[in-house]
Parts: sequence; structure tokens; C-alpha cells
Amino acid sequence: MSRPTVLITGAAAGIGRAIANRLVQRGARVLLWDVSAPALEQTRDELGDLARAEVVDIADENAIASADMTTWRPTHLVNNAGILGQKRSWLDLEAAEIERLLRINVTGPMLVTKAFLNARALDTPGAIVNMASIAGENGGAPGFAAYGASKGALLALTRAMARDLAPDLRVNALAPGIIQTAMQTGAPGGAANAEAIPLGRAGSAEEVAGAAEWLLLDAPYTSGEVLRVAGGRR
Ligand SMILES: NC(=O)c1ccc[n+]([C@@H]2O[C@H](COP(=O)([O-])OP(=O)(O)OC[C@H]3O[C@@H](n4cnc5c(N)ncnc54)[C@H](O)[C@@H]3O)[C@@H](O)[C@H]2O)c1
Repeated sequence: MSRPTVLITGAAAGIGRAIANRLVQRGARVLLWDVSAPALEQTRDELGDLARAEVVDIADENAIASADMTTWRPTHLVNNAGILGQKRSWLDLEAAEIERLLRINVTGPMLVTKAFLNARALDTPGAIVNMASIAGENGGAPGFAAYGASKGALLALTRAMARDLAPDLRVNALAPGIIQTAMQTGAPGGAANAEAIPLGRAGSAEEVAGAAEWLLLDAPYTSGEVLRVAGGRR
């Protein structure tokens, strides 16, 4: 069996970076992909010998196809990279902006999954975690309909992947609520909305990472599920 080797997209910051950190502490190897080269390099340096990093834009099919997945063959995948997009009223929607968001949040995870399936090590039980959101269930914050739609699509994809890739791979989704990362900076629903969260506060990237670690490595009979990490909020 290979050592668990986890490909994580959007791994240079926020939740992806916290997942990488947690998995390395667990003794797994991590393949870090991100578009932000300086942050990616810094994360790789901090994680040490169990981490490799590559600048890969998951909106770019050619970049995904030419990424190195043979030096370390991945056994697990976290489709984490995603964008929130600009707040838009319905009258201000622009097709190009919607398509860009869906490209990163929906098409990207599908293409990365395809590349992962082609490259993955077959001698180790594997798993996939898709980083959805409670926005995929409740529609998201006002002005962020495209984001909510993209995360709803990721929840449907999780169910399709869990069915299609069984019994070789388990596939689950995480649905975080409000998590303190750069994505929340300037977005509505941060600390100001804490009273709407039963646990009374936003969550941390580390708290989401703990749930990701469990789904990836410690949940051998769990597949096709959505695990909310949202402080009780729906
Ligand atoms: N922060 C929250 O409150 C929250 C809540 C629910 C779900 N999520 C989801 O969690 C995931 C991570 O969010 P975060 O809060 O850590 O965000 P973040 O903005 O802090 O980090 C996202 C990372 O993804 C990278 N990235 C963006 N576009 C990319 C692309 N095209 N290719 C490769 N990398 C790309 C960014 O450079 C960044 O390093 C996202 O899918 C997000 O939708 C976040």
C-alpha cells in the first residue's frame, strides 16, 4: 500500500492549507495546487518534505492535464478550490462572470477528478472530498446566487461520483458555514451575523480540516454523504 497522498486544490490559503497541514501531521503526503504562486511556495516550505506544490489553475484544462501526478501518485483528492464571486443584484448579472464562477467551482472539480482518476495509485483505498457549502442547500447569501448554485451542483456531483466510483473510491462533501478565511473578508455574513449561528460564532479553517481528515482517512463506511461544519446553521 502507498502512503496516503492527497491532492488538494486551492491549498495555498484558508481551508485548503489547513487541510494540508492536518494531513501532513497525520503522516500523509500532500500535493498542493493553487493559482497563487508566492502563497503556495510559502505553504510548501512550511509543510516540509511531505509536501510538493505546483501552480495549477483549475479553470485551465491544459494546466490540469499537464500537472505532475506521477512523481507522487495521489490516493486521495480534495476538490477545495473555489471562489465566491462579486455580490450582484439580479439586474446586474453578467454571463461572463457567472460562467467564470461555474468554471472554477463546478467544471474545475470535474476535470480535476478526471485527471486524478487517470493518475491515482490503485494499491490504496482512496477517497474524495468535495468542498461544497451550506449555500448549496439554502441558496446562499443575498446577491450570491451563482455561488449557491455552484455549491448545489457540487452536492449533486458528490452523489453522482459516490455512485459511479464505488466501490473503489468513497466520495463525500463538506458543507461549511461561515469560516474565517480570506473568502469571508468583505463578504456579508461574517461576525455581524454571528447571532444567526446556533453556536454563536464563525468557524475556523482548522475546524473544517478536522472534518476533512475524518472523511478522507477515518470513515471507511461513509460515502455519498454531506457533512455540515456550520455551527448548527443550515
Ligand atoms: N470561508 C468560508 O466561509 C467557506 C464556507 C463554505 C465553503 N467554503 C469553500 O471552501 C473552499 C475554500 O475556501 P476558503 O475560505 O479557504 O477560500 P480562500 O479564498 O481563503 O482560499 C481559496 C484558495 O483557492 C485558490 N484558488 C482560487 N481559484 C483557483 C483556481 N482557479 N485554481 C486553483 N486554485 C484556486 C486561491 O488562490 C486560494 O488560495 C472554497 O471552495 C469555498 O467555496 C468556504
